[in-house]
Amino acid sequence: MDTNTALAVAKYDAHADKFAERALTLCMQPQLEEFSRLTTPGALVLDAGCGSGKDFGPLGLCGFRAIGVDLSRGLLAHAGEVPGALLARADIGRLPFPDAAFDGVWACSSLVHFDMLGAGRVLRELRRALKPWGSLYASVKFGDDTGEWTDSEVVGRRWFQLWLTVPVVSVHPFRLIPYTGSGVSVHPSRGFPYTWQMGPA
Ligand SMILES: C[S@@+](CC[C@H](N)C(=O)[O-])C[C@H]1O[C@@H](n2cnc3c(N)ncnc32)[C@H](O)[C@@H]1O
Repeated sequence: MDTNTALAVAKYDAHADKFAERALTLCMQPQLEEFSRLTTPGALVLDAGCGSGKDFGPLGLCGFRAIGVDLSRGLLAHAGEVPGALLARADIGRLPFPDAAFDGVWACSSLVHFDMLGAGRVLRELRRALKPWGSLYASVKFGDDTGEWTDSEVVGRRWFQLWLTVPVVSVHPFRLIPYTGSGVSVHPSRGFPYTWQMGPA
């Protein structure tokens, strides 16, 4: 785990209850619908950086079997309260799973604390764990900067990598599938989520 990730995970641990509460206010329906279009029902999906497990229920409603991985003990404790949750405490850059174990990977806001090189390594690891025609959903923050910012008074200051589409495409091992859903806006300013969908190369 690199220093920025360690600091971020420490913040999640320290504010786990509040972060879990806030996560429940986020609606991922448009993104889930898009992911479902590319991932067959019954698929085994890795929730990479699952946090408090807010997406386990919605992924299950889409017909997927989800396994969550995270490094924050505090957030994993919340995720463990979701009925039927399957969890592992692990680094998404070193997954404890064999090659081609998953049909899909759902990485909601979990790449945000990696710099470009680190995120490239994680994306390669996620592809290793994916079946050849598996799909990946990943969301990051839009921009061309890095630094420590407050995204919420609740959770406090954390280091973020902001991303532009071009560097993302140049480092990731996936083919970019343009996002076609409605309900997700791309804002060219710091702090808003930039969401895209990637399929196999
Ligand atoms: C912004 S939160 C998103 C959590 C969850 N996906 C959600 O949407 O509510 C980022 C999550 O990534 C996790 N995380 C960050 N770096 C990680 C790593 N290297 N391995 C596993 N989890 C990591 C954090 O602990 C945190 O739970």
